[in-house]
Amino acid sequence: MAEWLLVCHGLATLLVLVSFLCGQWPIFQGTFIHRIHFFITFGAYDYFRRFIHFVCGSRGSNALLSVEYYCCDRPNPIIQLLYLIIIGGTYYFIATSSFNYIPGYYLSGVHRYTSFLAVGVGILFFLLTSFSDPGVVNSANVSQYLSAYPYDNVIFSEKECSTCKIPKPARSKHCSICDRCVARFDHHCAWMNNCIGERNTRYFMAFILWHFLICIYGLIALALVLAGRMKELQVIHILTAYYGIENSFRKLAPFVVQWLLNAYNTQILIMVFLAVISLLLAGFFTYHAKLCLTNTTTNEPKEIK
Ligand SMILES: *[C@@H]1O[C@H](CO)[C@@H](O)[C@H](O)[C@H]1NC(C)=O
Ligand SMILES: [Zn+2]
Ligand SMILES: [Zn+2]
Repeated sequence: MAEWLLVCHGLATLLVLVSFLCGQWPIFQGTFIHRIHFFITFGAYDYFRRFIHFVCGSRGSNALLSVEYYCCDRPNPIIQLLYLIIIGGTYYFIATSSFNYIPGYYLSGVHRYTSFLAVGVGILFFLLTSFSDPGVVNSANVSQYLSAYPYDNVIFSEKECSTCKIPKPARSKHCSICDRCVARFDHHCAWMNNCIGERNTRYFMAFILWHFLICIYGLIALALVLAGRMKELQVIHILTAYYGIENSFRKLAPFVVQWLLNAYNTQILIMVFLAVISLLLAGFFTYHAKLCLTNTTTNEPKEIK
């Protein structure tokens, strides 16, 4: 029973984490993940704010407001650190729980190094997207952008950015967090602490694709580690020869699953985590690839097809 409790707990944690971090994504529109996200980010926060006001009065409220301003309305590296903690933590848990089985029956020792390399390249893509120029429009080069992105007078007609006081090329948008106009603006990515625009969308897509591939790699490698352990410990042989269980997949599977959940629950939890993240990344990637192919960005009005 204890292992099921553990799995349920893991799944619940994952659900909350996914809802919190990705619940506002368009692919979750109208699902319960979106509602959980709304509760965690707005509902619960609202109660917290009222509680602070009740306990500490207006001074507490003002302090909270300035924290909120710093965290949510200004560029800041908090979520960037969260990314590094998540990827570093996952790699750490995989290394401590599974590297002593590598090399194993199905995996050669080289995967100790290739996994490190894969994570390193992932972080490289992260840094590249974070610190690249998204295509800032300023008064000196706005004319270049105006000729590159002409108005079509259907969706985009001549306008001026009220903050920067420069004309707004088609597809550009003023990022209120970074306080600048960005060409072919897609969205402001809190993970990267940067806008995603004309000049860094390809790095962003490479980042998403690469992390999807890392997750799949991790999933397969962990599955092979567990399969190797099963082979080395002769689990099937012991179950059939000593416990007298019939040698068929349907009869053996429950025992094997129970054994795995008992002996390798860390690996199982990591695999569930990787599977969920890879699904999210795949959804996000196809959504963005579709936008790229139809030549629109996330920020454009929905009614034009
Ligand atoms: C316009 O200037 C900004 C700021 O220097 C720069 O980031 C951007 O890449 C420039 N765009 C072009 C087309 O030169
Ligand atoms: Zn602007
Ligand atoms: Zn921005």
